[in-house]
Amino acid sequence: MNPAAVPPPPGPSAPPVITIDGPTASGKGTIAQRVAQALGWNYLDSGALYRVTALAALQQEIDLHDEVLLARLAGSLPLRFDGQRILLAGRDVAEAIRAEGVGNAASRIAILAGVRTELLVLQRRFRRAPGLVADGRDMGTVVFPQADLKVFLTASVESRAERRYKQLIEKGFSANLPTLLRDLAERDARDARRAIAPLRPAEGALLLDSTGMSIEQTVTRVLDAYRGLREG
Ligand code: DC
Repeated sequence: MNPAAVPPPPGPSAPPVITIDGPTASGKGTIAQRVAQALGWNYLDSGALYRVTALAALQQEIDLHDEVLLARLAGSLPLRFDGQRILLAGRDVAEAIRAEGVGNAASRIAILAGVRTELLVLQRRFRRAPGLVADGRDMGTVVFPQADLKVFLTASVESRAERRYKQLIEKGFSANLPTLLRDLAERDARDARRAIAPLRPAEGALLLDSTGMSIEQTVTRVLDAYRGLREG
């Protein structure tokens, strides 16, 4: 798609949005889902879109540097979200896209402008009443720059590697902590260094370091910040 054809973000009357950006395994997915649940809003896991595109590319053996083919793939994904299920051509890939190899491939294709432009359009379609909580890397900076509340969630690389290790083991994947730590640090660097939509806090974002915080404490901080904005 021609970037000039990307529709502008909706105006102020559009449903409210809370964005939660942060590095891999910062807990943003869990926090965003809990916040969405508490408010009764829709939830967008934007990383899942990059992961599904990467999985489809790996399945079709597309070269991960081939921007034209990958953008075409991202723009024509036979994708449907159904509760916890993520259906790609009718097959539930919610588990498969969590594999580390798919995450690494997602981080690689995420540097391609053509892919990002296609997924931008898809992501904005999730903004529906009564509201949206969107998590990712560039939700507050690029996809929903007029979000009502922008949160940038971090945690130390060590605690994120430990969280990811536990998640993988629980899901029955094999995992190695030192390798995970190295991969996370490399992925952080790639996500932060890339020229397009690099990982960085949006202007005016609430910065939250969840290293010593429980899930409940973090969710409460976000909800308080949103309610404070509405009351203030
Ligand atoms: O959050 P995650 O680990 O599921 O994301 C997988 C990859 O997708 C991540 O390494 C970078 C990319 N991504 C992105 O570039 N922009 C987003 N909004 C979400 C994910």
